[in-house]
Amino acid sequence: MPEFIHVADASDVPDPGTLLVEVDEEMVALFHVMGSFYAIDDICTHDGGPLVDGELEGYTIICSRHGAKFDIRTGAALSMPAIRPTRSHDVKVEDGSVFVRLRETGSGPGIIPTSYSAAETTNSNASSLQSTNEKGAVVPPADSDKNTETQSLTSQTLSEDLVRELLKQVKDPELFVNIVDLGLIYDVSFNPAPDNSKQLVSIDMTMTSPACPAGPQLIADTKRVVNTHEDVADVEVRIVMEPPWTPDRMTDDARDQLGIF
Ligand code: FES
Repeated sequence: MPEFIHVADASDVPDPGTLLVEVDEEMVALFHVMGSFYAIDDICTHDGGPLVDGELEGYTIICSRHGAKFDIRTGAALSMPAIRPTRSHDVKVEDGSVFVRLRETGSGPGIIPTSYSAAETTNSNASSLQSTNEKGAVVPPADSDKNTETQSLTSQTLSEDLVRELLKQVKDPELFVNIVDLGLIYDVSFNPAPDNSKQLVSIDMTMTSPACPAGPQLIADTKRVVNTHEDVADVEVRIVMEPPWTPDRMTDDARDQLGIF
């Protein structure tokens, strides 16, 4: 069981205020609000940003990198793009000295996407069960409603709107929301393929953060679903970070699914 470690004198931290402290070789953000002290990992669970550099509003710390909010009392993630809590720690004050004891896990519940289900998790990881069409592109199982919808879409005239409809089958593996409603698709363009009557499709796509761990999977899935259309010769995906993604780019559907109002 970790022990309480002296990290600061209470007078070292203004009220309200923050202080970066080290506890058992881990960096912890210490907060002083309304006469009480709180401690959470100095790590934003969206993309590792330092929380101690953020803006403190009441009991909420706002990550300076992309604006995720956390409750400093519990570590709970309060807003996108963070969906997981950061770890919170025990704090006590004795004789004007502040002590922190690391917890194994945080207590904050975080944001749980309302659309999450075991079935969706299975689907998102089911590529090994998928078959290929005549072009060699991987398609979902033939008996699913989704595949019926896919077959209907791939027989329609190729257009930007149709590509966006196809891309709604690609879901962020952490948020379980499709990449179109998340606002990740910036541009779709077409060029004739040089050696046949089909089209080369170029897609400008962004990520919720520059180091998004789901990036390679999202790119592969994007190419896969667009390539199912019979008039597509090839798909190019360009990752663009300008303008940067912000939660404002999400549709109302995405907000509903994430329980953000
Ligand atoms: S790293 Fe904190 S919101 Fe992206």
